Amino acid sequence: MSTPPSTAVESLSKVVPIIASSELHEGMSHIFTFVKDDERYEAFVIRFGNVIRAYLNICPHAGEPIAEKNQSAFNSDKRYLLCREHFALFDPETGKCVSGPCPIADLHKISIVQQEEMICLILG
Ligand code: FES
Repeated sequence: MSTPPSTAVESLSKVVPIIASSELHEGMSHIFTFVKDDERYEAFVIRFGNVIRAYLNICPHAGEPIAEKNQSAFNSDKRYLLCREHFALFDPETGKCVSGPCPIADLHKISIVQQEEMICLILG
């Protein structure tokens, strides 16, 4: 997995468990919420090959959610993340828009770390 090691991060930041690594299967997304600086955010974490990433659940085109609760953030063949509002496609590994109405805007990546069996959010 290509998440950063959990060494120095812990002492400087708050680490919040999101989901057990064993529950996030290949091609799966999981929506979660968090509060930072008194603001509530919705985000999702994905497993794509050997990569685990998390992004804010906001499409950079018109601000709609990429996925609703109980909905996958992936498209049908699980090669891209899909905004169902106007069908923008994003590279799961980088969050870059590869197709659709937002070619110069990418998903906002969220910092995560794996600690033992949990995938955790890093609140800096
Ligand atoms: S809001 Fe996502 S493509 Fe328009």
